[in-house]
Amino acid sequence: MAQDWTPESWRGLPILQVPEYGDSAKVEAVEAELRRQPPLVFAGEARRLKQQLANVADGKAFLLQGGDCAESFAEFSANNIRDTFRVILQMAVVLTFGAACPVVKVGRMAGQFAKPRSEPVEVQDGVELPSYRGDIINGIEFESGRREPDPERMLKAYHQASSTLNLLRAFAQGGFADLHEVHQWNLDFVADSPEGERYEALAERIGETLDFMEACGLTGDAVAQLRETEFYTSHEGLLLRYEEALTRQDSLTGGWYDCSAHLVWIGDRTRQPDGAHVEFFRGIENPIGIKCGPTLETDDLMTLIETLNPRNEPGRITLISRMGHENVEKYLPGLIRAVQREGFSVVWSSDPMHGNTIKASSGYKTRPFDRILSEVRQVFAVHNAEGSYAGGIHVEMTGQDVTECLGGAQAIDDDGLSQRYHTHCDPRLNAMQALELAFLIAEALKEQRAGQQRDVAAAS
Ligand code: PEP
Ligand code: CO
Repeated sequence: MAQDWTPESWRGLPILQVPEYGDSAKVEAVEAELRRQPPLVFAGEARRLKQQLANVADGKAFLLQGGDCAESFAEFSANNIRDTFRVILQMAVVLTFGAACPVVKVGRMAGQFAKPRSEPVEVQDGVELPSYRGDIINGIEFESGRREPDPERMLKAYHQASSTLNLLRAFAQGGFADLHEVHQWNLDFVADSPEGERYEALAERIGETLDFMEACGLTGDAVAQLRETEFYTSHEGLLLRYEEALTRQDSLTGGWYDCSAHLVWIGDRTRQPDGAHVEFFRGIENPIGIKCGPTLETDDLMTLIETLNPRNEPGRITLISRMGHENVEKYLPGLIRAVQREGFSVVWSSDPMHGNTIKASSGYKTRPFDRILSEVRQVFAVHNAEGSYAGGIHVEMTGQDVTECLGGAQAIDDDGLSQRYHTHCDPRLNAMQALELAFLIAEALKEQRAGQQRDVAAAS
């Protein structure tokens, strides 16, 4: 167990990006209430995810992590959860079948509520109010009462996360994710698009494969993997009061787990090696992510990995690079080399979203889809050149037919953004863009794996 660590040892250290609650008695009452609530996930599940991520670190599987930038109270509905889950399943099947590679599926869901912001305040028409920090903290409406941080929101977020997770578990295990349903996962509005058709062709081949397997006696009754899937949850562990209240000691191993999600990550703005967030993450035993942006110094990354994974346990650390399409070649090779030099076991995942955000001339915050694709292509190329394994993708996406990122097969342009721009924070890929990205990654991954096999053959 981590030395001199307790779930509250982060308190008193320098901390960024968290709200100041006015009423301390109220916030303490909420924390006490949260501590009485059941954990959302079990330690054993987090350990299982860690094992699967160890396989990814070893080049034997691929990590697919995706979902909303920010979940919201207003858009909470069974249909939204189902549609996002369904697109993740589609992407996973494209990757599994296209690259013959097991896929570890992790949603940015059931707890992704707290947002770091570049500006602490927002000004509109000369009026200044605190920035929106996610529904777990304050309201998005530009009204002074709504922008005050309200601790009660933590309870609402907990209960929403709990119902979301309940539905996800039902979908994953109750028949919705059965591979025989692969045709049904194509959303109506996607079906006629080029990606939808490409997906349909792939679903056709999977159907034939399943028929063949069935003829050989491998049915869904006999093989659980055909009729259900494993699905994990994750979010940025930003609001430490909430995370601490859901951190529990595992009765089997005595280890501490943040039971608000299977995996939690440290954001690019809160990864200071001597800050409160790193202190909190040091002592929990979940698999954890670290966002790696262009300002991350190599030495700091080495310190972070040593602090957060002193025993170099495989599967513990996922490095999520988010450099921006212009910066991948500049910064990523140095980080990869340093990790290799120190012999650290990590999963390398790519977030092609957060380094590619721009303001469109219409005023909308957006991301050009071609820059997203370009970052992903470059990440694969850099890993191939450095002899390391590009093991995952981290995306903000939704099953809804939104118009938030420019481009893609529908060629969404500046004017088109306003049609269905619904995000509570950053622009997300819509279902078609997400599928297009999955096809591109499947090809890159297939090549990467063929390269690995050639290397193994040459060495033997
Ligand atoms: C996010 O993933 O929503 C986020 C804020 O990312 P980053 O910390 O990489 O900016
Ligand atoms: Co975001």
